[in-house]
Parts: sequence; C-alpha cells; structure tokens
Amino acid sequence: METKILKLDSQALGCAAIGEAAEVIRSGGLAAFPTETVYGLGADACNPNASKKIYEAKGRPSDNPLIVHISSFEDLIRIAKAVPHTARLLADAFWPGPLTMIVKKNRAVPDETTGGLDTVAVRMPNHPAALALIRESGCLIAAPSANTSGRPSPTLAEHVAEDLNGKIPVILDGGEVGIGIESTIVDLTEEIPLILRPGYITQAMIKEVIGDVRVDPGLTAEDSEIPPKAPGMKYRHYAPQAGLMIVDGSKDAVIQKINALTDQMHAAKKKVGIIGTDETAFAYHGDVVLSVGAREEEDAIARHLYRILREFDSVSVDIIYSESFQTPKMGQAIMNRLLKAAGHQVLMVQ
Ligand code: TXA
Ligand code: MG
Repeated sequence: METKILKLDSQALGCAAIGEAAEVIRSGGLAAFPTETVYGLGADACNPNASKKIYEAKGRPSDNPLIVHISSFEDLIRIAKAVPHTARLLADAFWPGPLTMIVKKNRAVPDETTGGLDTVAVRMPNHPAALALIRESGCLIAAPSANTSGRPSPTLAEHVAEDLNGKIPVILDGGEVGIGIESTIVDLTEEIPLILRPGYITQAMIKEVIGDVRVDPGLTAEDSEIPPKAPGMKYRHYAPQAGLMIVDGSKDAVIQKINALTDQMHAAKKKVGIIGTDETAFAYHGDVVLSVGAREEEDAIARHLYRILREFDSVSVDIIYSESFQTPKMGQAIMNRLLKAAGHQVLMVQ
C-alpha cells in the first residue's frame, strides 16, 4: 500500500487533506494525524473491523485498549454508561487538552476498541487538525500513538512514516507536536480517581479541580508485584538496543560519573551515547552526545525526548547514559517514560 503524506497548512485547516483523511476513516481505514501530545493512528472507534486494523498496523497486543478521541462533550455522553460529575468538572478545566478520562462504556463502543474491557478511555484533543478530522469524518476516532508497538511515540510525521510507511493509506503532517509525551490518564471508575499514566496535566492540577486523586501504585513499583492498571503501561515502551542507564545526582557529580563510565567503555573499545542538556552537553566526551534542550525549559525536554530516543536507534552505540530530568511539573511524566526505556536502571551519585 502506498502511504500518502499530506501536509497541513495551518491557515487552511479545512483543506482537502483533512477531507481526504476523513473519508478514509469513514470508510473503515486508518489515518495518522497530529494531536497536541503525540501523533495518533486513527480509525472509526465504533467499527470493530477498523479498530482491528490499528492493532495489525502497530503490531499491538489485542488486550491493550485504545483511546477514543471526541470533539464535544456530547460525544462522551453518547458512549458512556454514566457520566460522573468529576468528568464534567475535569472537561471544563482541561478539555480540549492532554487529559484522558476512563469511564464505564455503553454498547456504542465495541469490545474490539476497548480490548474487551467494560470501560472506555476518552479524550478531546487540543489540536485543530485532530478536531477537524473527528468532525469531518462524523466518527469518534480510536487512536493509539502512531508508532510501531515498542518504539517511542511519534512527535513528527517523519516518525510515523518511519514506522508505518506502506502499512497505512494516509499521514496528515502537521509538523512537530506541542507537548511530546502522551496524555495523562485518569480513571474515574475508581472510588477515588486514579492516575494511570502521568502526563502534562499533573496530579496537583487534577486535585485542584476534583479533590482527592491518587496515582496508580503499579506505576512506581519497580519490579511490579503490583501490575499497572492501564494494560499499556505494563509493556516496556522503548528499550534501546544499546541499553540505557540513568545517572542521577548533582550536575557536576553526574558529569564526572558519566565521563568516568565513558572512559571505561572506551578502554573496552565500546561506543558511548549520552543524553544531556544544553548546559552540560559540551562537557561530555561520548561518541554521540545529544541534548534534550535547556534544563530550565521542561516543556522543551518533554517535546524532544522521544525524538532523541529515536535518534539513538539510527546510530550505533553500545551503551547510552542519560541525565535525570526531575523537573517541577512534567518531571513525573518525563521520568516515567525514561525509566521505562532504561528498564529502571538508575545510578545515584553524590
Ligand atoms: O496522548 C495520547 O493519549 C495519545 C494521543 C494519540 O491521543 N494516545 C495514546 O494512546 O497515547 P496509546 O494507545 O498509545 O495509549 C493508551 C493507553 C494505554 O496504556 C492503554 O492501555 C490505556 O491507555 N487504556 C486505554 N483504555 C483503557 C481502559 N479502558 N482502561 C485502562 N487503561 C486504558
Ligand atoms: Mg502508545
């Protein structure tokens, strides 16, 4: 199958490209599109065969449910068995935006879309092309991140093409996404709402709107005796072939340690990759040193992280050392993704 990559012009969103992708979705096919978090791989959420195609194209385990993307609050009412009061409050505060809510589903959503669960994940994305695509297709759009299962989520249309070229008919290219890591997921079917995946919308922000909210203990458990509640969070998202280790501590101690480790590796004729920041990158002597951006700009760190991880797939290094990014707001989300990529290998230095 030939994959068409259609550029979106920010001035002319209602353009032919959206219409073409909407027609593909309406007729049961797949279209990749930008959202404010990462690129999504969309299909008609109410068509079981269309949802199945998503799993095939991504190589995704069929027990891993999809997020249904909507363009109005009424869409949520259409697919939820009951709409909790907390959903209204959170929608008022954060929709459209990078927050996914889990509610009990009704029969409008087929089991193929929810991996057999009786709940459904719902999100109203804050991206004009995504909203236009949902509206023009007349469908609710089931969309996981538009990567091959096991690779970092795409933050550029080029990443989607890398993984899915030849497997899907159309990619809408809206340039680089704004946030760069996937939406926060909050489960509203629990007595106390539970964050299943950290993201741009933090626990503190949710707490301010609905009061009590907990974080899934399965997320932080290292060698999970407690499995995470979101099926997708149990899979290791990305493990660079080279192996990744996080070195955490004060700036100078981290630089010193990474350089010492680099020397050891060089002595053993191994190639070293390093993930640093604009402030530190020059201080390393690894073979490939990449910066996620300025340490003070956590939004930039989140936006660049997956691109940097992908870049290490295309260079040959034997080991990657990364600084730690426990930034004030998005730190939890950034470190959740990085720790998974590192298989929780962290070296603490003073
Ligand atoms: O930002 C995002 O959320 C992006 C964009 C495209 O919207 N989408 C995304 O989808 O990250 P995906 O499929 O890569 O991640 C969805 C996560 C998975 O971990 C899945 O297990 C979980 O949501 N999930 C979906 N439905 C669920 C449900 N009913 N109960 C628990 N977890 C659910
Ligand atoms: Mg994903």
